[in-house]
Amino acid sequence: MERIDKLIASQSPDLSRRDVKDLIRRGEVKLNGRPVRSADEKADPERDEITVSGKKLGYKKYLYIMLNKPAGVVCATRDGLSEAVTDLLPPKLRRAGLFPAGRLDKDTVGFVLITDDGALAHRILSPKNHVAKKYFVRLRDNIPDEVQPLFESGMEISGDKLLPAKIEIISEKECFLYIKEGKYHQIKRMFQATGNEVIYLKRLEIAGIHLDPNLEEGDCRELTKDEENLLKSC
Ligand code: URA
Repeated sequence: MERIDKLIASQSPDLSRRDVKDLIRRGEVKLNGRPVRSADEKADPERDEITVSGKKLGYKKYLYIMLNKPAGVVCATRDGLSEAVTDLLPPKLRRAGLFPAGRLDKDTVGFVLITDDGALAHRILSPKNHVAKKYFVRLRDNIPDEVQPLFESGMEISGDKLLPAKIEIISEKECFLYIKEGKYHQIKRMFQATGNEVIYLKRLEIAGIHLDPNLEEGDCRELTKDEENLLKSC
């Protein structure tokens, strides 16, 4: 059970607690059909029906958002200088507590998961859980044959022992790479260790969920129920 003013404000990007209190005073908020008298009344969001000015409150405990991150935007909730991924969310998907689950570099593009479900974010990010993230990589120079066994055996970079990474060669200078952890500049450093340089990097999948090809860079949408279930089965 939660305080009804807090509950409504948490689910309504355009209403502050103060707005909700005003609506309650004006008799605009109903709990199971009867007007709420006081902002500290308690409600169970999973069972009770709450209406605000006649509209049923759609309750979502957590949000799971797929964003196609453009270059130049940082994976943070707020950044003094650059635009942050949460700044790209449309008003209807904004609420307190949302953060990017995992970081892409400022110049990396593609799939960023934004959520307020801290436990789930921790599960998909922890290397212990072996949740694969798939990237498309374009390199400055050709990819020599030795790279495949090197990456797949679990290489060491600057004293960091990495988990085995799977590589699928697409062309002389392009590949898909699957990694199960997210060390600082990991893919750039892996290729740098082979004398090469990443010139374009895009994340395509997290936990088997594909970046929606219909999402333009900078756009986002909520995960579908199936995608959400896939994520939760990690
Ligand atoms: N590896 C990198 O080097 N950069 C990213 O943004 C993601 C993985």
